[in-house]
Amino acid sequence: MSDDLFDLTGRVAVVTGGLGQLGAELVAAFAERGARVAILDLATDLPEPIRAAMETATVRVHPCDVTDRNAVEAALALVEADWGVPHVLVNAAAIDAPPDAPASEVGPFEDVPLDALERVVDVNVLGVVVPCQVIGGAMARAGRGSIVNVGSIYGLLSPDQRLYDFRREAGEEFVKPVAYSVSKSALLNLTRYLATYWGRSGVRVNTLTPHGIENGQPATFVEAFAARSPLGRLMNVSEAVGAVVFLASDASSYVTGANLVVDGGWSAW
Ligand SMILES: NC(=O)c1ccc[n+]([C@@H]2O[C@H](COP(=O)([O-])OP(=O)(O)OC[C@H]3O[C@@H](n4cnc5c(N)ncnc54)[C@H](O)[C@@H]3O)[C@@H](O)[C@H]2O)c1
Repeated sequence: MSDDLFDLTGRVAVVTGGLGQLGAELVAAFAERGARVAILDLATDLPEPIRAAMETATVRVHPCDVTDRNAVEAALALVEADWGVPHVLVNAAAIDAPPDAPASEVGPFEDVPLDALERVVDVNVLGVVVPCQVIGGAMARAGRGSIVNVGSIYGLLSPDQRLYDFRREAGEEFVKPVAYSVSKSALLNLTRYLATYWGRSGVRVNTLTPHGIENGQPATFVEAFAARSPLGRLMNVSEAVGAVVFLASDASSYVTGANLVVDGGWSAW
């Protein structure tokens, strides 16, 4: 039996950050389910799931900085010319302090430079606001659409600094920085704001809150994570797909302004 509830055949989806680990998985999942998918990303390297999807389905990459309104408008114009107004927008583009961040950016909260904070908030918050303005606005004019803003458990709860003991044991002074947390918290209320703003326009807006995607992290981190996780492990990236397909499809037609937490129970205790 095919299940029309979750059907995405013929839908047009835009995935920002679609060349990243989670984004690429979602692009491939949408394409496999019959959607046409436009990726908006700064990166140019095509990860394996995207290569495979481009061979079998309609996936296009539009190089684009999601904080640049003109660039997002130009990308939307190309998508609309090809396929019409998008039905789905997943905002997955984001940055965090990179592993080689200067010590001051991953040091004590009291001394974190404001420009580091501004950079993260710029991409993680304004880089979601702008696609919502441009692409969400087009969806609202078309009278339908579903937006999924990808948050993080760190936008809901404080990071457990003990997870990063492995970096301190290696002699580093490391504090998981506040910028990512505050930026992801902002998305929870951006989602609620837009869900009510566009409620009568047929555009639903929800947050996906994932936590801990397995990505070759050091064994000490994996062990510390597993010890605190009710499911006792990190998430395989494919385990985010069901939640996003649910939010993107008609299966969630009465769900808006919500936060779907996919954290293996992390926030349950
Ligand atoms: N990986 C995890 O464990 C995890 C956990 C919780 C939440 N998340 C969230 O999931 C989402 C995807 O994470 P990921 O692990 O796939 O990250 P990733 O770094 O693999 O991918 C992020 C993508 O965003 C793109 N990007 C960054 N800045 C951009 C900009 N200004 N304009 C356009 N594209 C830009 C990057 O080029 C990259 O392709 C993010 O929102 C992240 O915060 C991830």
